[in-house]
Amino acid sequence: MSDLNIAILGFGTVGKGVHHSLKSHQSRLEKVLGKSVRVVAILVKNLEKHEQSREDGVLLTTNYEEIINLHDLDVIVDAIIGCEPGNSYLQKALEKGIHVVTANKEMFAHHGEELLALAQKKGVTVGFEATVAGGVPVIQTIKQLLQVNRIQKVEAILNGTSNFILSSMRKDGHSFEATLQAAQENGYAEADPTNDIEGYDAFYKGVVLSQLIFGEKPNEQSTIRKGIREITADYVECADELGLRFRHIVTLFKGNDGVQCRVEPVLISMEHPFYQVDGVQNAVSIKTDLVGTVQLQGPGAGMYPTASAILEDIIQISRPVSTEPAYLEYQGDASSSSKWVFFSNNRKLELPYDIKVLARLSDKAVVVETEEVERIILEHPLLTFFELIGDYRHTTEKVIV
Ligand SMILES: NC(=O)c1ccc[n+]([C@@H]2O[C@H](COP(=O)([O-])OP(=O)(O)OC[C@H]3O[C@@H](n4cnc5c(N)ncnc54)[C@H](OP(=O)(O)O)[C@@H]3O)[C@@H](O)[C@H]2O)c1
Repeated sequence: MSDLNIAILGFGTVGKGVHHSLKSHQSRLEKVLGKSVRVVAILVKNLEKHEQSREDGVLLTTNYEEIINLHDLDVIVDAIIGCEPGNSYLQKALEKGIHVVTANKEMFAHHGEELLALAQKKGVTVGFEATVAGGVPVIQTIKQLLQVNRIQKVEAILNGTSNFILSSMRKDGHSFEATLQAAQENGYAEADPTNDIEGYDAFYKGVVLSQLIFGEKPNEQSTIRKGIREITADYVECADELGLRFRHIVTLFKGNDGVQCRVEPVLISMEHPFYQVDGVQNAVSIKTDLVGTVQLQGPGAGMYPTASAILEDIIQISRPVSTEPAYLEYQGDASSSSKWVFFSNNRKLELPYDIKVLARLSDKAVVVETEEVERIILEHPLLTFFELIGDYRHTTEKVIV
């Protein structure tokens, strides 16, 4: 039986998870692939840190040239951070006809198009399941759906750290800063949380999905990327009393102005499937023309969920599903909802329009249904507002004063 020879770039959370999982699932992989899978090389940045991980027959190095020049290398798994050197390393691998599998969403959001084109030219594959929603098989599901369906819209919770912070603020009643600090102490947030809480990480994942579904990147002019820093304990408490929950959502659809990508905190009603998605979980809702709406939910990050996505990609190398972008232009308004929640920020909440008030929480917050949101926002710059997603029916009597 021949071997499938793998090199892992980066030996942190993801790299180690892949290494352990390849060992623990060796017999399963052999059965599925008809060959055994062998890690033959590992690339790290600081050799001293990894001396105790040294294994006979496995090259441990800081020099990529030693890896790329190995004979009989079949797959390179990219588990390092940032656009470079990951992009250059993977280009070199593809040039040499080596398959690649990456978890590096930032690099793939920027360079995915070129890497996929190069892979096609060289007759090899690029697996990128782990770049979006960790262990949730979003990419394979979309590829499978795109064989027949056309996708109209995607809504997704793609950053577990933000979702964890928003859920914890609701459960514990603490401020954003205190919750972030606790999340950092417990390993749920990075020491530098910018990528997660400012929406960059979710945006990179949105870009990867956009290229897969629509065959192009989101329109830069209309892209919205907002984080969760502005959400106060007060807003969370008011929302809870109104039966609503904050979620940090990526919305993707293609309209007249190209692909619209919006990464922003919104309020979710009890009727929406994301209402129950708490903690570090990710969730994706894919609206298609044939099957209808498909929902996926699961762990969006972590050692073994991410390794699972990478192993599934390694298996797909021997039987790839080809896909062409397939979408339907989204016919709805640019904003997916006409329901909004306005927070007064301790000012008198007077909305002088003939708008439908669905619920009011004394003078703190009001839930409205209106097509005139842009006008209201312009005329009331001191109000803070969030879109409300999901039905909000039983509310005419919900006037909480
Ligand atoms: N963690 C997750 O749950 C998760 C989920 C999905 C996707 N991802 C993505 O997967 C990638 C890895 O994440 P991680 O959490 O495993 O990070 P990590 O724990 O910080 O590990 C990063 C590894 O990359 C190595 N590295 C960094 N720069 C390098 C360079 N220039 N040359 C060679 N090696 C280099 C580091 O080497 P040293 O150890 O020697 O410093 C380290 O072993 C990232 O792109 C991340 O966005 C992570």
